[in-house]
Amino acid sequence: MITIVVAMGEKNEIGSDNQLLWHLPKDLKHFKNLTSGHPVIMGRKTYESIGKPLPNRTNIVISRKKDWFEEGILIVGSIKEAVKFAKKIDEDIFIIGGGNIYEQTMDITDKLEVTLVKADLKADTFFPKIDSKAWVKTQEICHEKDEKNPYDFCFQTYEKIKSE
Ligand SMILES: NC(=O)c1ccc[n+]([C@@H]2O[C@H](COP(=O)([O-])OP(=O)(O)OC[C@H]3O[C@@H](n4cnc5c(N)ncnc54)[C@H](OP(=O)(O)O)[C@@H]3O)[C@@H](O)[C@H]2O)c1
Repeated sequence: MITIVVAMGEKNEIGSDNQLLWHLPKDLKHFKNLTSGHPVIMGRKTYESIGKPLPNRTNIVISRKKDWFEEGILIVGSIKEAVKFAKKIDEDIFIIGGGNIYEQTMDITDKLEVTLVKADLKADTFFPKIDSKAWVKTQEICHEKDEKNPYDFCFQTYEKIKSE
């Protein structure tokens, strides 16, 4: 099972200046619960934005750079290679961004774990449109903003519609 995890705003915005657009501790906890113990695949820019390996997960980072090395992560040169290595570690694989990697992996993904943030923010990076012909929403749990989480948001699960 390949799952994409993403937090996006109402216009599919996910990032600006290589940073996230919000700080939502409840979403970070949700992300940790979903991905801990499983391999996570990300683009080099997302890795640099996080700045260090995510603990308790094999961090697989995709880059075309030949001379780039970071301790504690597995660096691969293609999405195919990333998936090949991740499958050797676990049958549940998580793709965690960013926009460039999401664009290239929607076709090979089985499930989307979306946090829809009820915000409309300026951004330079976006999640691809979720085509209702290809994806069905199977779950939605919404939370209201509070003193630590400045926006309302919903955790949504989408599953790929299997063609007969
Ligand atoms: N809201 C969310 O859930 C979320 C999640 C993750 C990220 N983000 C945000 O998204 C933004 C980063 O996304 P991004 O689209 O700019 O970058 P990205 O997808 O994280 O990384 C792009 C990089 O990945 C490598 N790459 C991409 N496709 C490749 C391929 N087919 N083969 C080999 N290498 C490949 C290249 O690295 P090299 O240049 O090294 O070759 C490319 O520059 C940031 O603002 C971040 O905060 C948001």
